[in-house]
Amino acid sequence: MVVSVIGARPQFVKAAVVSLALAKAGIKETIIHTGQHYDEKMSGVFWQELGLPEIAVNLEAGSGTHGVQTAHMIERIETFLLGLHPAPKALILYGDTNSTLAGAVVASKIQIPIIHIEAGLRSFNRTMPEEVNRIVTDHLSTLQFCSSEKSVQQLASEGITEGVYNTGDVMFDAVRTFAAEAEKRIKIDGLLPFTERPFCLLTLHRPANTESEQHLSGILAALDKIGMPVLWPLHPRLRGRIAQGQLPANVHITAPLSYFEMLMALKHCYKVFTDSGGLQKEAYWMQKPCITLRTETEWIETVHDGWNRVAGADTASIGLAFQQPVEPGSWYPLYGDGHAADLIAKHIDNFLK
Ligand code: UD1
Repeated sequence: MVVSVIGARPQFVKAAVVSLALAKAGIKETIIHTGQHYDEKMSGVFWQELGLPEIAVNLEAGSGTHGVQTAHMIERIETFLLGLHPAPKALILYGDTNSTLAGAVVASKIQIPIIHIEAGLRSFNRTMPEEVNRIVTDHLSTLQFCSSEKSVQQLASEGITEGVYNTGDVMFDAVRTFAAEAEKRIKIDGLLPFTERPFCLLTLHRPANTESEQHLSGILAALDKIGMPVLWPLHPRLRGRIAQGQLPANVHITAPLSYFEMLMALKHCYKVFTDSGGLQKEAYWMQKPCITLRTETEWIETVHDGWNRVAGADTASIGLAFQQPVEPGSWYPLYGDGHAADLIAKHIDNFLK
C-alpha cells in the first residue's frame, strides 16, 4: 500500500489522474488530506468534479504562518502514518506546497521511501516558500518523476541521478482527461459576469503580489488599459481586501473557480495573466498566450515564441507583454504526451515489487 499526501488545490487535480492510474495498475492507495485548503471552493468541489477516491483522513491543519501550518501537518501526518499496519511501502508527494514539505520531513524521519511527482523544478528564487519546499523534498526522495528533461538535468546538477524519470506532467493528463466533461457541464456565458468578448483571465495568489500594494496597483493599472473585460477569480488570501468598487471598471472579481470552470475560462479567454505555476502550463496546453506576473518562471519551456511572457508587476512591462503577439504556427506539445500518470504508476509498480 502507498500513501499520498495532498492538501492544496493543484494537488487535487494532479492526484485525480495519478490515483486513477494507480487503481488501474492494481496499486492500493490511502489518501491523506492535510486540510491546507479547506474552503468548499478550494477543496470540496474538486472531489465532486474529478472523481477522486475518498480520503482516509483530513488532518485539518488549516492556515497559519509557514512554521505553524507545517508543524501541524508534520505532527498529524506522523501520527497517522505510525498508526498504519502494515507500514506503507512509499509516500507519494506532489509539487512544492507546505503539505509536500511536511510529508517529506515525516517520511524521511520514519524511513518510508518518498516518491516526488513534479520533481527537479527550480525558480532559483529562494524567497519563494515553494522553492525551499522543492529543494528539500527532492533531496529526500527515492523516486523522482520530472515533467521535462530540464528537471532531470537540474537534479543531476545537484547530484541526484538515481530513481529519476522524465514522465511528462500529470496536469497535461488532467487537461486531456477532463476537458470534454468540462465542456458539457459548464456554459461560459453563465460563468462570466459580463457579456463583452473577448475577455482576459487573471489569477493572483503569490505573497510577492498579494502582500504588496505596489505590485497590486501596478498590475491593476496595466489591466485598466487593455480595452477588454478581465475575469478575476479571487484567491481567499485577498478576500476582504479587494472590493469591486476599488477596481478598474473592466476588472470583475468572482469566487475561486472549480477545475471545470477554470478549463472553460481558459478555453474561451483571449490571454491569461497569472502568477500561478500551474496556470502557466494550463494556458499553454489550451493554446492561450500567458503573461506571467512574476520576475521568473520555473516553466521556462513555455517561454518560446511569445507563448509566455514574464512581465513582473510593472505596469509598462505588462502592457507591452499584452500587446506582443505569439509567433503563428509555433505551438507544440510540452511536458510529455498526456500519459504521464500511467507511466508513473508503472514505475511505482516496479519499485514496489
Ligand atoms: C498554496 C501553496 C502554493 C500553491 C497554492 C495553490 C504553500 C507555501 N503555498 O498557496 O504553493 O501554489 O497553495 O493554490 O504551500 N485560505 C482560505 N481558505 C482556504 C485556503 C486558504 O481562506 O481554503 C486563505 C487563508 O487566509 C490562508 C491563505 O489563504 O492564510 C493562504 O493559504 P495557504 O494554503 O497558506 O497558501 P496559498 O496561497 O493557497
